Amino acid sequence: MPLVVTHRVADIVAVKTPLLIIPVAKGALPPSLAALDRISEGALGRCWAAGDFTGVKDETALLYPGGNGPERVLLVGIGDADQASAATLRRAAAIGGKKARSLGAPAAAVAYLRDVAPRVPTGRAAQSLAEGVPFGAWHFPDLKRPPESPKPAFERCELIIDAADAEFGAGVTRGNAIGAGQALTRGLQVLPSNTCTPEFVAARAREIAARHGFTVTVLDRAAIAKAGMQALLAVAQGSALEPRFVILEYRGSTAAPVVLVGKGVTFDTGGISIKPAQSMEDMKFDMSGAAAVLGTFEALGALKPNQHVIGLIPLCENMPSGTAYKPGDVVGSHLGKTIEVVNTDAEGRLILADALSWARQYTPAAVIDCATLTGAIVVGLGHTASGLMGTDQALVRAVLAAGEAADERVWELPLWDDYRELIKSDIADMKNSGGRAAGSITAGWFLKEFAEGYPWAHVDIAGTAYADRETPTQVKGPTGVMVRLFAEFLLART
Ligand code: BES
Ligand code: MN
Ligand code: ZN
Repeated sequence: MPLVVTHRVADIVAVKTPLLIIPVAKGALPPSLAALDRISEGALGRCWAAGDFTGVKDETALLYPGGNGPERVLLVGIGDADQASAATLRRAAAIGGKKARSLGAPAAAVAYLRDVAPRVPTGRAAQSLAEGVPFGAWHFPDLKRPPESPKPAFERCELIIDAADAEFGAGVTRGNAIGAGQALTRGLQVLPSNTCTPEFVAARAREIAARHGFTVTVLDRAAIAKAGMQALLAVAQGSALEPRFVILEYRGSTAAPVVLVGKGVTFDTGGISIKPAQSMEDMKFDMSGAAAVLGTFEALGALKPNQHVIGLIPLCENMPSGTAYKPGDVVGSHLGKTIEVVNTDAEGRLILADALSWARQYTPAAVIDCATLTGAIVVGLGHTASGLMGTDQALVRAVLAAGEAADERVWELPLWDDYRELIKSDIADMKNSGGRAAGSITAGWFLKEFAEGYPWAHVDIAGTAYADRETPTQVKGPTGVMVRLFAEFLLART
């Protein structure tokens, strides 16, 4: 069951909850906590006096106040109040959510103190808190036998505000929708490829569509062949599993659609250009773009913005076998351009090429693809930012702004003509790899060859889709990146 976040007006001293999470700015014990300090017979004051808590970023203190209110209080530091942003609050809430889950609290509450982040509008604050708690609480116990811990699941969280505020409620609704979308994405990303096959992801798309009343079409191998998606077929031909091509449509307006495209390679062995064994298991995450598009649709089902959105998800496995495509093969594409495959491990761009070409029929207002596309982006930007490229400066700026609002950072790389040279082929229209130099940009240039006739942006999430270690806000594993960014992008257009 996804964690549900609600809100209510209350005095925090009277909130009966296993855990009250309180984001607190740097400085002395704030006046808004004086009453809680009194009912806890000075426990908060002693905590400050001892220097155990000062409110610096990510600092926490767990207290047991006694009395009839909260059983436990978790103070979470956010640093300077006047520097605090929506991202600061989201982070504090995530730290709280993570703690609630590890404590085994079945429920928690978050105090929204108006003096804690004065620069953040109330609605934004509510949204961030509602996104943050389930983000931090997310984990994946499903495949442990017996279940790892007998602790009760963390299922309910209420945000506490001191006076009625319509904006606060609207923010909670947005945050819940986006939080649920992000949880869905992470739940797919984490699944191993023996479960999470192309048909499995397609079935998930059908399920989401049925629940929210979206239109969904799934093309099987024969339909993909009939449509002329030869590049997708080439990648898929080494696998015993059939490819799928998913088309989702949310029609909240009759305007030209925004098309979201997600790379759905359910496992990337590299194919005949096989990857080394070291960390190859991580390549189950190569469908993170697909999962992000599905999570965004899950959020859309609850947000219901007045937007027209189409999701395109090419799905396959990249396997070596007697039927696999081989280095040197020249393959066709949906657009008609020919591609010399110099490396079968550069497969993501091939399946995305056909999806980008397919998108033309909608005469879209914008197309944004996201993909765990290149190892080079991890070298360039690490795990901190996704790489952004595009053909339309207004669209690129809108994606950057959405990334800022979502605190899912993106950084633009140039698609200058000079780089086109690197994917010149002697015998075909282009080759699928330009080698090591500017690896993320040549991948982007390859995609650009197929993104004809509409404003297009590409986000390389190879470094941001998975956390390779535990952080204060999440367990090691999937991040659900792009769901918040896509949601902010679409909400900003309403
Ligand atoms: N899925 C990988 C990208 C990737 C690599 C993500 C490492 C995370 C970590 C992609 O399909 C790939 O294999 N890209 C190659 C391209 C190269 C052969 C031109 C890469 O980045 O090495
Ligand atoms: Mn690959
Ligand atoms: Zn890949």
